[in-house]
Amino acid sequence: MTLNQRMSRDQATEIRLQCPALANKTYFNYGGQGPLPTPSLEAITNSWKRIQELGPFTAEIWPFIAAEVNSTRRRLAMECGIPPHRLALTENVTSGCVLPLWGLPFRSGDRLLISDCEHPGVVAACVELARRHDLGLDSLPVKQLRADQQQTDQGVLDALEQCLRPRTQLVVLSHLLWNTGQIMPVAAVAQRLKQHTQQPFLLVDAAQSFGQIPVDEAATASDIYGFTGHKWACGPEGLGGVALSERVLAEASPTLIGWRSLQDERFADLTPEDPFHHDSRRFEVATSCVPLMAGLRRSMELLAEIGSAAERLESIRHLSGRLWQQLNNKGSSLPLLTVPPPAGLVSFQLPSGPEPSDLVKQLGNQGLWIRDLADPPCLRACTHVLSQDAELDALVQALEGISP
Ligand SMILES: Cc1ncc(COP(=O)(O)O)c(C=O)c1O
Repeated sequence: MTLNQRMSRDQATEIRLQCPALANKTYFNYGGQGPLPTPSLEAITNSWKRIQELGPFTAEIWPFIAAEVNSTRRRLAMECGIPPHRLALTENVTSGCVLPLWGLPFRSGDRLLISDCEHPGVVAACVELARRHDLGLDSLPVKQLRADQQQTDQGVLDALEQCLRPRTQLVVLSHLLWNTGQIMPVAAVAQRLKQHTQQPFLLVDAAQSFGQIPVDEAATASDIYGFTGHKWACGPEGLGGVALSERVLAEASPTLIGWRSLQDERFADLTPEDPFHHDSRRFEVATSCVPLMAGLRRSMELLAEIGSAAERLESIRHLSGRLWQQLNNKGSSLPLLTVPPPAGLVSFQLPSGPEPSDLVKQLGNQGLWIRDLADPPCLRACTHVLSQDAELDALVQALEGISP
């Protein structure tokens, strides 16, 4: 370990000590929700107090609210490598993906190409959209890609070649697959779509990438790049964002419409010609929880103290690689990937032993938290930059105690 790496591990330990959620358990469910550090919780309550002192609904409050919204928008846009006018603030991954998705210009007979590793919420929104607008659905097979990055990238591009149809108008793909843990070559996919006669839109679910791996290249290449702060970025639940392309801003209509979508929120005319913002705010709706913004910014500051996104990924990979190796050596557990994971999702199967859901409960009884996934059926342990070697050992030892 270099001196820099040691200092960043020390910093991670410091921050870990400020996470009450990590004090009383061995935690691997960062892909579900990350812990909220106490300084972030304090930033939220301080912001909430300030709102009460200044307002809640007075002339004094609006500059404070505007400063909170603008600085959060700027911070998230910077992480995504885009200008702030392309970053809409949302509540979660799903609304970031689905609100702009439903506003895209589709014509009857267009087709949606959806990877076979997408989250049920996003899939359901696509299926319902297709039903209402008479669109066709196609599946992009990426679940079986289990080898190294180069082969995975090639596999995705080959599958895309096979599955693109003349009327494909949208491709839906996660940046980091929530089940197998593979990273998708989003920029290369976007490049390929530009050569298609329809120039399909690219919607990327960034639930597992934001806060875990560098996202700027993929976010700038996507049309819709929806993420949340409450998983790998260790922010509070209820605040996320979506990076939108200029094309989406120009061609998509707002869907869930409210006063924040309007250029002039005092508008009372029922037949306005051009009522909506032309920037990302056309996908923002109405009152939301402003104090959460201070919490997410604080969590992102804390993570940045550990290292850049690329440095943190290196540390995450070191931990996930070690866990993958230990599980592989154990023989009785089979990691889904044939190589160490490209990020922090370590998914594995136990060929014998209890049902995955029962195993999760048994480990939970011992204070160890992983989750099971339905498709492919597997268990998933996430290593975060806050994870520690001793936790990996504890998990492997507990699995040894359980499986025959
Ligand atoms: C890949 C993926 N997409 C979407 C979601 C849903 O996230 P949210 O509740 O923030 O919309 C999750 C949550 O686990 C996820 O893993």
